[in-house]
Amino acid sequence: MRKKVIFGNWKMFKTNKEAIEFIQDAENKLKLPNNYVAGIAAPFTALSDLKKVSKNIIICAQNCHFKTNGAYTGEISIPMLKGIGITHVIIGHSERREMFAETSETVNEKLKSLLNEGLTPVFCCGESLEIYESKKTIDFIKEQIIKGFKDIKDSDAEKVIVAYEPIWAIGTGKTASPEQAQDVIKSIRDILSNIYTKDVASKIIIQYGGSVNPKNVNNILSQPDIDGALVGGSSIEVSSFLELFKTNEK
Ligand code: PGA
Repeated sequence: MRKKVIFGNWKMFKTNKEAIEFIQDAENKLKLPNNYVAGIAAPFTALSDLKKVSKNIIICAQNCHFKTNGAYTGEISIPMLKGIGITHVIIGHSERREMFAETSETVNEKLKSLLNEGLTPVFCCGESLEIYESKKTIDFIKEQIIKGFKDIKDSDAEKVIVAYEPIWAIGTGKTASPEQAQDVIKSIRDILSNIYTKDVASKIIIQYGGSVNPKNVNNILSQPDIDGALVGGSSIEVSSFLELFKTNEK
């Protein structure tokens, strides 16, 4: 059975002090249901200290460079992250694709380098409002996945976490309905089945992201192909982050 993996994504929020206070408080109060995994993607400045105070919450990075080292001013490499114990890294978030010239080609390089180093990539994909309205979502996502997973072998592909985040739902308060999200995520699993095998695709964790909050999370996670959530706004306060883990299943 695939686990339910809920990661908060703080984006460019929280000083180191605020980040530490959050994780200490959340670790004290978190009641993780069976089969659930919790994580927070924090800014680079907080990662090292958060690794020291976290216990059950996985501390993730929000980006990385694909080269080991070099003249890349302002960048952070995978060995640097690995050196402080980071195991999970978000790549290809739509905000990075839109504002920081991230392409499917660079996302593919990052995916390959992370897997080579034994880290878990959280591979983001998702369509704009324009593509959604012109009903080209699946074609668009298919291209992002084919390019993103180029030269990734079966045994590595199954280790990737995919996050489907329609851009029109990020930070807008507009969520895809659970059924809409299920349809696209089922298609993502079919695309992965075609590239790899059904068995490989059935092991891949696929999250939904885009205005997930404590009220809608359980309906979204009850869909058969949705294995978790990537959560921005509702992961900023400890109380709403913790509420994401209050399931109906207990
Ligand atoms: P949101 O962000 O939950 O604030 O919509 C999600 C994300 O960008 O990962």
